[in-house]
Amino acid sequence: MNLKTITLEWTGDSLVLVDQRKLPHVVEYIECKTYQEVARAIKEMIVRGAPAIGAVAAFGFVLGAKQFSNLKEKSFVEHMKTVKEVLASTRPTAVNLFWALERIYNKMDQIDDVDQLVSVLEKEAIEIANEDIKVNKAIGMYGQTLLKDGDTVLTHCNAGALATVDYGTALGVIRAAVENGKKIRVYVDETRPYLQGSRLTAWELVQLGVETILITDNMAGWVMKQGKVNAVIVGADRIAANGDVANKIGTYSVAVLANKNGVPFYVAAPISTIDIKIKDGTQIPIEERSHEEVTHINGKRIAADGVKVYNPAFDVTEHELISAIITQKGVLRKPYSESIRKLFSLEDQM
Ligand code: MRU
Repeated sequence: MNLKTITLEWTGDSLVLVDQRKLPHVVEYIECKTYQEVARAIKEMIVRGAPAIGAVAAFGFVLGAKQFSNLKEKSFVEHMKTVKEVLASTRPTAVNLFWALERIYNKMDQIDDVDQLVSVLEKEAIEIANEDIKVNKAIGMYGQTLLKDGDTVLTHCNAGALATVDYGTALGVIRAAVENGKKIRVYVDETRPYLQGSRLTAWELVQLGVETILITDNMAGWVMKQGKVNAVIVGADRIAANGDVANKIGTYSVAVLANKNGVPFYVAAPISTIDIKIKDGTQIPIEERSHEEVTHINGKRIAADGVKVYNPAFDVTEHELISAIITQKGVLRKPYSESIRKLFSLEDQM
């Protein structure tokens, strides 16, 4: 069983990832043969983006199962608990990581024979990955109805094919609009400190043939004030039950500026990004990353020696600032506590 997309390749014995730290100028691949190597790849940002992390962790779980497949059932299950914990400890904010691990771990309840179980887990990981592509295309289909021919969109961070298994969420909406014959122009925030916008989003959009204008993050407000933007579309790392959204640091500022300037602010995300157990955004854990991401650019120090640094990787945008949440089941509107509750009760009935 294998699968190959822009973000990952599952060969049956290993997981090959495009090294996103080196894009766009160097296209290099890293092969992970163990669950520890997959955990390292997530932690070190070789792969990033909420849905991508989830699918990659599921394949990491399968590699762990293959590593321990010679053990007897009880000891195998004990080892698999550790595999799950190690993969879950890589990054704290994107809930898709925990969602995918929970989904694949629960498959272990069904079968006693270890060999049979390994192939069931492999099938499940491939299913998670294929499902992600289908889900993104459905998000695109619903989301593109919000855009008109000739619209200009602003996006922040990378919610494209590279942040998912393929196709993308926020960029999936733009892609679907273009596939439906609409001409769309995109302003891309460079997204300091990690530069996912300039390195990844701009690269993806240019390859898709979309007119792409790169701006630094502090230009977004002025661009909107000049009336140059018809809609903002971003992805999400975790959505609380009331519709509060955690996404890449800087998303909150963009949402405030969009609201101030009367620009609709849309979030595109799969239902697996909604953490129904979390009441509101204050309960979402926010990852803090290394100080070097702020003090250095491309390995070169730019900040004064001795300066203190604060580097939260995500922020939370309150639900009041969000015009709609685009999912694979349709476009959710305010009040989100209602529309999300209804969505989950429908899911339960399926
Ligand atoms: O730190 P990253 O690069 O993993 O952060 C990614 C984002 O914040 C994306 O916007 C989010 O995961 C949505 S991806 C479809």
